[in-house]
Amino acid sequence: MPKRVVIANWKMNLLRAEAVELTSGIVSNISARDLENVNVIIAPPYTCLEAVGSTINNTGIELCAQNVFWEDSGAYTGEISADMLLDLGCSWVIIGHSERRNILGETNSMINDKILFSLKKGLRVIFCIGERIEEKTRGRTLSVIKKQIEIGLNGVKTAQLDNLIFAYEPVWAIGSGITAEPQDADSVHLSIKQFVSDRFNCNTEKIRVMYGGSVKSGNIDSLIKEPNIDGVLVGGASLDKESLIRIIRSSGV
Ligand code: PGA
Repeated sequence: MPKRVVIANWKMNLLRAEAVELTSGIVSNISARDLENVNVIIAPPYTCLEAVGSTINNTGIELCAQNVFWEDSGAYTGEISADMLLDLGCSWVIIGHSERRNILGETNSMINDKILFSLKKGLRVIFCIGERIEEKTRGRTLSVIKKQIEIGLNGVKTAQLDNLIFAYEPVWAIGSGITAEPQDADSVHLSIKQFVSDRFNCNTEKIRVMYGGSVKSGNIDSLIKEPNIDGVLVGGASLDKESLIRIIRSSGV
């Protein structure tokens, strides 16, 4: 069975000293045994990547960026390339997070450019998808997600799916304290797996889908026991050492 995945998305939080303190606290409390069944990935803001990278060096915990641009280099003020992230020791990047879609105006087609470029460069991708509340209430969850996948993965080859995992993050659950019902999330995860396996002509076992949206130490057990929830993407609760440690331990059971 593939390892579960716990992704800590620190968003736009923490100064370097704070990020190092939190990372050191996690490193010193997580044993090799805790990591036997779980991949832990930390996504700090760009400014903390190097410091967090040094702190997790040789621990088995992996470094992730929260965004990337789709060109190698050039006149793109404020953007960061895949090579720059690899140079800092990142092995992962989050692409398509709803905050980038909704606040920064990222489209499915921009997300597709980022995914294609990252995979080509050897960065592994956490591809976020999910519906807004008005789409959910109109019964459009699956059609929204299918469109995000269809456009987002346009041009991706089946073999490249090994370097990509999905994060189903219903927008209404992110930072709201409201979590999707575990069985509802599980059924969306299964639909995602079926859709991707049909589209790429591959086995559903190859496709891994994490759940994100108000994951906490208090709800991790009920989420992770669902058969199609392969891990979690944690925002707010990952800024608290004790909560993150509990989520990592529970995910490995
Ligand atoms: P949350 O964020 O856990 O604070 O809801 C999840 C995410 O946006 O990745």
